Amino acid sequence: MSEDLTGRRLGHYRIDGVLGRGGMSVMYKATDVRLGRKVALKVIGEHLGEDAEFRERFVDEARNTSAIDHANVVPLYDFGEVDGLLYIAMRLVDGSDLASIIKNGPISPERTLSLLGQVAEALDTLHDRGLVHLDVKPANVLVTSRETSTEHVYLADFGLTRRGATGHRTRSGDFLGSPTYAAPEHLRGEPVDARTDAYSLACVLFACLTGRPPFQGKVPEVIQGHLNLDPPAITGLVALPNAIDEVIRRGMAKDPKVRYLDCKALIGAARQALQQAPRREAPRPVTTPPPPPPQPQPFRPAQPQQPVQPQPQGPGDFVRLRPPTPVGSSAFTPDKSSRRWLVPVLAGLIAIAAIVLVIVLVTSSGDTSTPQQNTTAPSIPVGQASGSQSKPARGTTPTTRRTLPSNLTVIPSGG
Ligand SMILES: Nc1ncnc2c1ncn2[C@@H]1O[C@H](COP(=O)(O)OP(=O)(O)O)[C@@H](O)[C@H]1O
Ligand SMILES: [Mg+2]
Repeated sequence: MSEDLTGRRLGHYRIDGVLGRGGMSVMYKATDVRLGRKVALKVIGEHLGEDAEFRERFVDEARNTSAIDHANVVPLYDFGEVDGLLYIAMRLVDGSDLASIIKNGPISPERTLSLLGQVAEALDTLHDRGLVHLDVKPANVLVTSRETSTEHVYLADFGLTRRGATGHRTRSGDFLGSPTYAAPEHLRGEPVDARTDAYSLACVLFACLTGRPPFQGKVPEVIQGHLNLDPPAITGLVALPNAIDEVIRRGMAKDPKVRYLDCKALIGAARQALQQAPRREAPRPVTTPPPPPPQPQPFRPAQPQQPVQPQPQGPGDFVRLRPPTPVGSSAFTPDKSSRRWLVPVLAGLIAIAAIVLVIVLVTSSGDTSTPQQNTTAPSIPVGQASGSQSKPARGTTPTTRRTLPSNLTVIPSGG
């Protein structure tokens, strides 16, 4: 969405800047000029303001947010429409979101349990009122240390929240939201309930303790992971007690009946499992043996190059969506990942230069009676692509394969 209302007035709100952008709305920092207080102002995208279904959803979001009066749910201040723009005004949380916090790696068990314990409180209350959040993920968990001596959490973004147990899609059958933390029944468009949010909370627990979501990769891989694979063992990634693996296995069970009874029970089980872990330190990565030092390779004449084989396309290729949320994706900090390609490219260039240098040295000091060999360029094998796409992630094992509904189209819900 390109519109930016910064500097403009919307009724009695002066818009001071952008806090975050989603697929359907923009969240602004604003000032209520009547009261002189700062607010967070969510404004529906101009292009969707005309769409009856999205207008209805936005009104629902306002109703659902205001329906829950809980210390861990962002308080709603106001809801209205000015110049054809629908808005929701709520408390401005002066802090960060959990996605920003875990962007640089895992956080300590103690902090994880304190933050997610509060999310669990909010979710169980929501569920007691017959609502299902359906977008539980780190970017929707706001954290501030400005209000109390410990960190206080607000569950935010009730844009997908639904009442009742019907499968949740748009009228045209689209899946709304990001699949990174979504439960299998939600992805399939089957009935959802409190256990659907509990599954997502277990994914967030995984992400806090490891610094990455349980399933990574392209959208179809992430979806296939949620539908068909066991989550990777946390203990294969970071040094934590084995009991936490069982908590994740149960929390993220494909069958909702196997999961914990509520969100507090999930966090309680995690607390139990992590009792023996160092409480205040971020878990250390499990050390993997370093790769063997490169052996000097005998010079080989060039092989005919094999064409790169096209990779088989996964069943989810029809999915239309922004890429799955990387663990640190947050509305608070710009993503700098676009420059990460520089490192491998530079490393590759240096490696090629080294190979050329070795060849020049070998050929200039070696036997000059085989001139063809001396002038042959080194072979850089171009075989089949690694196939890593089709391999399950480390520590994952396929379970019973289920097919994806053919109408699964994913459209973004925002940050
Ligand atoms: N009350 C708030 N105070 C401060 N920042 C907020 C608040 N609500 C949301 N944000 C920030 O804005 C982002 C987008 O808001 P959200 O309600 O999640 O909208 P979207 O539907 O676009 O995801 C959040 O991820 C969070 O970083
Ligand atoms: Mg959001």
